Amino acid sequence: MGKVIAVYSMKGGVGKSSLAVNLAHGMAAKGLRTLIWDIDAQGAVAFLMGLHGADGRARKLFAKGRDAAEGVVPTNWPELDLIAADLSLRNLESDLAGDSPKRLRKLLDQLRQDYDRVILDCPPGLSGLSDQIFRAADLLIVPVVPAPLSLRTLDKMLEHLAEERGAKAPAVLPVLSMVDRRKALHREMADAQPEWPAIPHASAVEQMGIKQAPLAEYAPRSVAAKALGQVLLRVEAVLAG
Ligand SMILES: Nc1ncnc2c1ncn2[C@@H]1O[C@H](COP(=O)(O)OP(=O)(O)O)[C@@H](O)[C@H]1O
Ligand SMILES: [Mg+2]
Repeated sequence: MGKVIAVYSMKGGVGKSSLAVNLAHGMAAKGLRTLIWDIDAQGAVAFLMGLHGADGRARKLFAKGRDAAEGVVPTNWPELDLIAADLSLRNLESDLAGDSPKRLRKLLDQLRQDYDRVILDCPPGLSGLSDQIFRAADLLIVPVVPAPLSLRTLDKMLEHLAEERGAKAPAVLPVLSMVDRRKALHREMADAQPEWPAIPHASAVEQMGIKQAPLAEYAPRSVAAKALGQVLLRVEAVLAG
């Protein structure tokens, strides 16, 4: 049975999609059969990989009786498949509301059979959809931009997760995102959380939007690519228990 890893945050613009693509690419490069499933209507994942979006078909995969595997397309990389998003997911929250709170989990249980790793690129928010994500995932990776408010948001999320899932809550790995060590606040926050892997603020990462490829494809020796390698090791260590 494969593992489900949700790249999740209440906040937008914190580096979720970039991290999801780079982690999925890194896992596949290690030979793990990997699926990246974009469930955010913004559809960043396909764009960042230079692939087509789902052209309005993404929502149908969530309909009753459907197998999400119908939406799988190959990517340019061995062992890495994609389920792309599109704007039809903009109401996914309400589409899934009222249905079983395990709906997403059930869809993922089918995909777990076929893949070693399923990476979910999640929309921002803390909603009924998030609760479904918390039920479905083995691990939540939460990018945290170094700022007091971001830490507070993380704490609120952890509080909610504990209330909602209790002992059944998935493991959580915060990852410091867009760290600029020239800034005293960033340095202090990074040093205060030595257990959290950190990804530097780097133009090499921003360029994913221009290159439309995972970072390791065009800048494998960059500081950011090395940092991502460390994140990957941590993720695998957490999954191994
Ligand atoms: N480590 C980083 N350094 C610099 N820019 C980054 C980094 N990670 C992400 N970005 C940029 O920040 C913006 C938001 O990133 P994205 O991955 O789309 O976040 P989210 O999915 O949380 O909205 C994008 O323009 C992206 O290129
Ligand atoms: Mg995103």
